[in-house]
Amino acid sequence: MPLSLRKIACIGAGYVGGPTMAVIADRCPDIDVTVLDLNAERIAAWNSADLPVYEPGLAAVVSRARGRNLRFVGQTEGAAYVAAADAVFISVNTPTKTEGEGAGKASDLRYVESCARFIATHATGHTIVIEKSTMPVRAADCIKSILATARPGVTFDILSNPEFLAEGTAIRDLELPDRVLIGGERPESIAALAEIYRRWVPAERILSTGLWSAELSKLVANAFLAQRVSSINSISALCEVTGADVEEVAAVVGADSRIGPKFLRASVGFGGSCFQKDLLSLIYISESYGLTEVAAYWQQVVDLNQWQKRRFADLIAAPIADGAGSLRGRRIAILGFAFKKDTNDVRETPAMDVCRRLLARGATLAVHDYRVTPESVRSEFAAQGVEVAATPEAALAGADGVAVLTEWSAYATLDWARLAGRLKVGAVIHDGRNILDAGAVRRAGLILRSIGRGAQPNA
Ligand code: NAD
Ligand code: UGA
Repeated sequence: MPLSLRKIACIGAGYVGGPTMAVIADRCPDIDVTVLDLNAERIAAWNSADLPVYEPGLAAVVSRARGRNLRFVGQTEGAAYVAAADAVFISVNTPTKTEGEGAGKASDLRYVESCARFIATHATGHTIVIEKSTMPVRAADCIKSILATARPGVTFDILSNPEFLAEGTAIRDLELPDRVLIGGERPESIAALAEIYRRWVPAERILSTGLWSAELSKLVANAFLAQRVSSINSISALCEVTGADVEEVAAVVGADSRIGPKFLRASVGFGGSCFQKDLLSLIYISESYGLTEVAAYWQQVVDLNQWQKRRFADLIAAPIADGAGSLRGRRIAILGFAFKKDTNDVRETPAMDVCRRLLARGATLAVHDYRVTPESVRSEFAAQGVEVAATPEAALAGADGVAVLTEWSAYATLDWARLAGRLKVGAVIHDGRNILDAGAVRRAGLILRSIGRGAQPNA
């Protein structure tokens, strides 16, 4: 008899678990969806009007499904829902290990293992366990061995269903995915999960592979995306010294249909919780199989990104540092702290690296962001010298330099003619995202330096 998933549970109510389950519940009113998390504060926020994740469109999806067939519960209450579930998604964090074997590179699977133990303890009958978290290839073996400790008569099958959503566009990505990937060993389990996605995803976009290919494909997809950013960022430095314009170069290169135009925006560097950790995981896996050249190849994508962030901070410092290179007494306005626009997420944000480097040279910073809370900014810095500004205007007051670090659309329309007088005379504006209206900035009599653009007429 074909399997049918009527009740599902998801462990982990984060940036992936919350939005993904909300969209499934929205699209499948007949499926009962429970999301559980150890973090009681997060669960309370999911049950409130002030959701813990900012994503365009998310609030509407949650409000349609919550209280109907979608619920967010704490871990203790969640046990009964896991027991009743036909399928349990694991959507917890898989950060880079900070200690033990592989520290600094390998994925830390302790949260996933703890979920597997929780499922082994509470599941009843037959349950499909679905890896939604990004895992190292062959991680399913480790989950299987933990599930094998369950009571007699309780059985499991494992699927890998990695998530490809990007923050800021999560709802659109979930509702109109390029592809859904389901890796597994038993066709009936793959078909049962595919049946859920089929409610809104065309069949040809639901790809099925073996378990190991699915696990590895997710790491490789992120590695390829990060590689494009590092590739264009390497060229941004070359453009700056040669007088070429990286946007023009990217447009020409991207017009080749074999290359494509997306993901070629030069920037202050890539950030976010996943690109670096997934690259490091791929590097660690390659090293552990003795593939040193493969590891070195991907390591360069990480190294170039670190270099780009340092390079950008040093460009901000150069015109205002004293003879000894110090920025003491200098105030720098930081416009944007999230790792990209339309999210409140600051994990691995390039803004942090840039800010830390400027602080280390003695600068004081005034940080503005449209969605990152002041507490979130302050919690990232142990050091003094960081003020959180409520508006871009407040951040700019008395600034010796300005850095645009997140591409919030509202920064693109700032009225520089009005704002120019707030800056110190001679202040340079560094656009780390190439979103400012260069003409408007220059007409206001200000000096603009854009990432990947050679010397400009009034510079
Ligand atoms: P997150 O940190 O936002 O959320 C993870 C949640 O899991 C947290 O709320 C945490 O409290 C909870 N948790 C941890 N251990 C638990 C346990 N044993 N029981 C119950 N809850 C537990 O992480 P995220 O950004 O949602 O990422 C989750 C996974 O998805 C990661 O593997 C990540 O690589 C992958 N991923 C993330 C994104 C993204 O855009 N953030 C996109 C695709 C894939
Ligand atoms: C990325 C992938 O795009 C998702 O497919 C994947 O599911 C997710 O990682 C994950 O596994 O976590 P995300 O990190 O949310 O999504 O956001 P991206 O749009 O990929 O941006 C990542 C970083 O690269 C950001 O800092 C962004 O500003 C930067 N970027 C992106 C550039 O600097 N230039 C570009 O052209 C594109």
